[in-house]
Amino acid sequence: MRLSITSLPGDGIGPEVTSQAIRVLKEVTHGFGHELRLDEKEIGGAALAKFGTPLPDATLKSCLASQAVVLGAVGTPAFDDKPPELRPEAGLLRLRQQLGAFANLRPAVYYPALAECSPMRAEIVRGTDILIVRELLGGLYFGQPRSIEGAAGSRHAVNTMSYRESEIERIARVGFELARGRRRRLLSVDKANVLECSRLWRDVVTRVGKDFPDVQLSHMYVDATAMSLVLKPTQFDVILTENMFGDILSDQAGGVVGALGLLASASVGGAGGLYEPVHGSAPDIAGKGIANPLGAILSVAMMLRYTFKLSKEAECVEAGVMSALKGGLRTPDLARHGERTVTTDEMGEKIAEFVRLAAAT
Ligand code: IPM
Ligand code: MG
Repeated sequence: MRLSITSLPGDGIGPEVTSQAIRVLKEVTHGFGHELRLDEKEIGGAALAKFGTPLPDATLKSCLASQAVVLGAVGTPAFDDKPPELRPEAGLLRLRQQLGAFANLRPAVYYPALAECSPMRAEIVRGTDILIVRELLGGLYFGQPRSIEGAAGSRHAVNTMSYRESEIERIARVGFELARGRRRRLLSVDKANVLECSRLWRDVVTRVGKDFPDVQLSHMYVDATAMSLVLKPTQFDVILTENMFGDILSDQAGGVVGALGLLASASVGGAGGLYEPVHGSAPDIAGKGIANPLGAILSVAMMLRYTFKLSKEAECVEAGVMSALKGGLRTPDLARHGERTVTTDEMGEKIAEFVRLAAAT
């Protein structure tokens, strides 16, 4: 099979983790007899610095011509006081929109090998296996109008939360379908006691649920969900929610399983998929070679599975990650006090080697 992919390393630790993810991907395509067509482009702060825009036309063109996009991270403090359209994040948001990637899938799984990483007691977090399905193209992130206006001291800021039935329905269908392939439980998260958007959300999700009588649907307010996620994370299967609630809950889920650096994501629904780790650009540790590349590597596994339907190859990458963790490899974010740590590069090398050996046998 030919895999045509655009790689967008982006900012901060993005380039470090992406180069390990691509290294593993190259091992997969070589070992399993596929052809890789790879194009690397700029996005975010890296693109702003070079071209004055966070999503240059050449980047967008390449992404739209590819079957999948692998992204590192965007965001750098250098652009903090710039207007929204000249911030690195604007590039990512526009890319998601242009790709039509409305469904963001974020698994948060507890790995026994990392039992000590979670700040929570093992008996609470053991067995946690959650899939957050986050709506990615609506809500406060894209709603109009949006502005900050007025003179210093009396400025006024506006964002708009907006959802159409069609937007809710299409993401709900993705959530229900995915729940069917799992434990058949879907929790829809909203704030229907306060927000109109959430009332419509609950209504539409309930209606769509009638087409999936085999999936057990329930509803919870987002504040209560945040608490339950900590008190009893094992009760969740699929969590379906709107854009901003999903952004917040997915970081929290990372904290619960103890390793935000391990979380991968797939943004799908349009023509091509966008695959990126859940973590951000972490400028404080950028360039030091200590970032955890596993979220990026596992995002490549998601890409192999969802875009290319190469499940054997995806499983191989995941097995490589498991094997590295079981073997005691720890980037500093995963290490307990006194444990020996490995660099970003050593972690990537180990998984690439696993894939090389597995593909050869
Ligand atoms: C994420 C990030 C992004 C988001 C930022 C970088 C725009 O936090 O993917 O979760 O808020 O969606
Ligand atoms: Mg986020």
